[in-house]
Amino acid sequence: WSDFQALSPEEKKPYFSENGQLFHCLHSQQFDREFIDHIYKLTNIIRSISKSKKGSLFLQGLMPHYKAMLYFMQPSTRTYLSFRTACQILGIQTSDVRDASISSEVKGETFEDTIRTFSSYFNFIIMRHPKEGYAEQAAYCLNNSERPIPILNAGSGKDQHPTQAILDIYTLRRSFEHYGGLEGKTILLAGDLLRGRTVRSLSKLITFFPGTKLILSSPEKFKMAEDVISFLDEKQMDYEVSNEFIKHLPEADAIYMTRVQDEHDTGSDKSEKSFPEFSLRAEHLSILKEHCAIMHPLPRREELDSAIDNDPRAKYWRQERNGMWARAALMTHITGYDKKIMSYWSDI
Ligand code: CP
Repeated sequence: WSDFQALSPEEKKPYFSENGQLFHCLHSQQFDREFIDHIYKLTNIIRSISKSKKGSLFLQGLMPHYKAMLYFMQPSTRTYLSFRTACQILGIQTSDVRDASISSEVKGETFEDTIRTFSSYFNFIIMRHPKEGYAEQAAYCLNNSERPIPILNAGSGKDQHPTQAILDIYTLRRSFEHYGGLEGKTILLAGDLLRGRTVRSLSKLITFFPGTKLILSSPEKFKMAEDVISFLDEKQMDYEVSNEFIKHLPEADAIYMTRVQDEHDTGSDKSEKSFPEFSLRAEHLSILKEHCAIMHPLPRREELDSAIDNDPRAKYWRQERNGMWARAALMTHITGYDKKIMSYWSDI
């Protein structure tokens, strides 16, 4: 780990294979607009193909010789299940390690040896880890092994959740399909922005959409961190940092709520479970725009009133379903099977 830390950013940058194909999916900064557009189109095509029996059989026959390891060292419901279901849609076989106590890591096996062992049996490692940087470290370790396989970061500590950002952008674009697209929209991100890896990854991807504005609304102690703010400055993004919430609701085209990420509390510093003044409640619906997209990466607590669930502007259940399609698209892109999907689509 210390050897890895000492590398330059360039040396740590192992995202692409030799033919220029995306290989590892580690964090949002590695993507570009062309990639985002391709995944958007591909996700829509996979959804459409899967609607017919013939299409779903085609998808299931696409990658049956592939095997994926779901290595989840932190709790997960939807990321785990959506990746697993995406694999099932594409015929990919899966295995998982979700409990550190049943891994030989408890016998002292190193993280690197664990990852290399997975690469002996699988074609992908989809990993969630409580510590930042471990997805990059795993990619680096495999790039220097005789059997490099892609690492897909399914959430790394407080840092990044790039596949969530991909599905969030997809959901935003779908929501604004009949309202002029995502360009030019005002997106309100609210809650624990300091430790919320979803909003950190999403903020970076939104910079690819000209004219969008971000309102970063949080309690003072959970303000968006400086590294993301510097990134937004570098990209000349229009943004506002605010410790108010309700006053921004009428101007938002999308509201992205997040919960307090108290799993990252340190022993001495326990945070509040929720902040009532950063909660979206049914009584706020009347001041929202008619086309406002209400989103949440889930799971939620009090910050998002369940009385909102049946409002047509609530997109969070769709958002979690979109995760399955977007992750399937990503896996076909990484392996080059997207070309077969495109060719099948153009023939029907
Ligand atoms: N959005 C998300 O990461 O949810 P899970 O923790 O349930 O995977």
